[in-house]
Amino acid sequence: MSIVPAQADTIAQAGAILRAGGLVAVPTETVYGLAADAANAQAIARLYEAKGRPLFNPLIVHVRDADEAHAHGAMHARAKTLAEAFWPGPFTLVLPRRAESSVAELACAGLSTIALRVPAHAVAQGVLQALGRPFAAPSANRSGHVSPTTAQHVWEEFGDAIDFILDAGPCAVGVESSIVAVDADGRARLLRPGGVARERIEALIGPLEPAGGGVEAPGMLETHYAPRARLRLNAEAPREGEAYLGFGAFDFGALNLSSRGDLTEAAANLYAHLRALDADGADVIAVAPIPAEGLGEAIADRLKRAAAGR
Ligand code: TXA
Ligand code: MG
Repeated sequence: MSIVPAQADTIAQAGAILRAGGLVAVPTETVYGLAADAANAQAIARLYEAKGRPLFNPLIVHVRDADEAHAHGAMHARAKTLAEAFWPGPFTLVLPRRAESSVAELACAGLSTIALRVPAHAVAQGVLQALGRPFAAPSANRSGHVSPTTAQHVWEEFGDAIDFILDAGPCAVGVESSIVAVDADGRARLLRPGGVARERIEALIGPLEPAGGGVEAPGMLETHYAPRARLRLNAEAPREGEAYLGFGAFDFGALNLSSRGDLTEAAANLYAHLRALDADGADVIAVAPIPAEGLGEAIADRLKRAAAGR
C-alpha cells in the first residue's frame, strides 16, 4: 500500500523519489496533486502517461516562493501585485516563460508561457524543500475525472500505478487554484475561476478580461471534473430516481454541500460529495442552484464542465 502519513521522514522520501524521476501524490490546500520533477522531461512524460492527459495540455509548476517563480516567468507589475497578495495560496499565474527556465518544455506543452503557483500547504512546501527544485503537479486524477480531495480518492484513481501517496487528510479549499494570465503588457485574463474569488482579484487590479478561448487554456475546452453519473444543474428538487446534491435550504435529506449556505464550505465538499453520490450508483445527480458570487463562480464552473457533453 503506497498511502503513507505525511511526516518528516515520508516527506524526505517523497523528495528522493521525485529526484529519481518518480511520481508522488502530494496534498495541497486546493486538491491533491500528482507531482513530478519539473526539470525532468522523462518524469513529466510519465506523468502525462499516468493521467492519460493529452500532451498539448500544460501543467502547473509549483515553486517555494515568488522569488523562485521569478526565475521561470516574467512578472509585469500587476503580476507582482497579485503574487504578493495571493501567494502562498490557491492562485496560479500564467506568465511569459523565461528562456533560462530549467523547467522541461514538455511541462509547458511547448508554449511560450508558464503556469506557476506557490502552494500554502505545509506538506507541499516540505516536498518542494526536500526536492530542492520545482515540481509540476496537475490534480491527481485520471484526465477528465473529478479531482481528489483525499488520499483515498487518489488511491481510487491510480492504485499502484504511482509510486507514493502522501496523506494529510482532506484539502481545506477543495477546488483548484484560480488561474490568471498576465502578459508582458500587464493584460490580465481569468483562465480558470478557483480558490481565490474573482472579486478579490479585481479589487487589486481592476476588471479581468475573459479567457481568449481556443488553445489558451486547453484543459478548459474538454469535459472535465466529471463523475460517471449525468448531472442536472439548478435543480430546485430531485425528480423520481435522481440523487440530490443540496445547498443551503435546497435540502432533501440527502447530501448537502453546505446546509448553512456557506460557499467556502461548499467548495471544500464539492468533489467528495460528487464521488460519494457516484459511488452510490445514481444515474443522474440533480444539483441545487449555487449563488454566482465568491467561490460560487468556481463551483458553478466545475459543475458546468462536469455536466458538459453528457
Ligand atoms: O489547485 C491547483 O491548481 C491544482 C493543485 C494540484 O496545485 N492543480 C491543477 O492542475 O489544477 P491541473 O493540471 O489539473 O490544471 C492546470 C490547468 C489546466 O487547465 C491547464 O490547461 C492550465 O492549468 N495551464 C497550465 N499551463 C498553462 C499555460 N501556460 N497557459 C494556459 N493554461 C495553462
Ligand atoms: Mg485537473
